[in-house]
Amino acid sequence: MSIILSTPSVDELSPAVDALKGWQYDGGPLHLHSGDLGWHSLHGAEATAAAIRMWSRDGEVLAIGLLDGPELVRMAVAPNWRDDEALARRLAADLDEPGRVLAPDGATVEARGAGLLTQLLLKRGWERDEPWTTFHRSLSDPVEDCGLRIETIEPDRAEVWVAVHWSAFRGSPFTDAERRRTVGGWLTMVGGPFYGDGRCLAAFDQNDDAVAVAAVWSAGPGRPGLLEPMGVHRSHRGHGYGTAITLAAAAALRDMGSSSASVCVESSNVGAVATYTSAGFTPSDEVADLRRGSR
Ligand SMILES: CC(C)(COP(=O)(O)OP(=O)(O)OC[C@H]1O[C@@H](n2cnc3c(N)ncnc32)[C@H](O)[C@@H]1OP(=O)(O)O)[C@@H](O)C(=O)NCCC(=O)NCCS
Repeated sequence: MSIILSTPSVDELSPAVDALKGWQYDGGPLHLHSGDLGWHSLHGAEATAAAIRMWSRDGEVLAIGLLDGPELVRMAVAPNWRDDEALARRLAADLDEPGRVLAPDGATVEARGAGLLTQLLLKRGWERDEPWTTFHRSLSDPVEDCGLRIETIEPDRAEVWVAVHWSAFRGSPFTDAERRRTVGGWLTMVGGPFYGDGRCLAAFDQNDDAVAVAAVWSAGPGRPGLLEPMGVHRSHRGHGYGTAITLAAAAALRDMGSSSASVCVESSNVGAVATYTSAGFTPSDEVADLRRGSR
């Protein structure tokens, strides 16, 4: 049977989610994680399904990509298929062909751990892009107390979470229209098919102001969980709250049965790199995305 490239409907998401969960293991690469689909589902389950590309053969899922916009695909290849020459060639051809998976005007592939695919794309003239650093923390032992009050955010407190997230990542004025839009997205995510494995946390200072937020995503018991995203309100940085919410996130993942906590960040984000290190995470070797220009 030949390899089939397809996009699942919402009803067909389970094989993709189950495959991504099964492909996470301690010591493995931090490739596309089921939690990445969960975080993407801020845009809705339909949009998330429509952004997935699945390569399968005889009903077995071999590789999955998540289009994070038309020019970036984030990949995971089944661990026991990673060294398969035929699959790597097919993936490289599909990713390299303008318009087949990625837009013709420049494209980026995140292919962590997929060594053969990486080599083939480099041979086709793709170049290494900005370096990222992956961090892991084992959860075999309990995580130290983070020292702040931590709340697991339920729908009635969505505004608290999105306001801190907005400040951390955008920082521009949070207009009513943006508030409605982001709360709507958050509620869509939390009410969607992925959030059974997710948890959104907020940390509060001694004045009970929300100062930091994180979301965590389990891939099932005994597998690495994902921390995505994490941020501290702009007015509250430099007080240890980044470290605190990261510790709280690790503790939540342990509570959810994860064997370890993983996160990946641009190596140039020195604040985040320092924060994960402070929270007991260990960096792995840097990994670079692959990029090609317009064709
Ligand atoms: C990264 C971020 C969370 C740090 O928040 P913070 O509240 O300042 O973090 P902390 O006070 O807990 O600092 C933790 C460590 O990072 C260091 N640090 C924080 N910002 C830093 C910066 N810009 N440059 C260098 N070091 C920095 C601190 O000195 C501290 O180091 P130490 O523990 O060795 O003393 C915050 O800047 C942020 O929200 N950034 C935008 C969102 C983001 O990038 N998130 C991560 C990727 S998802």
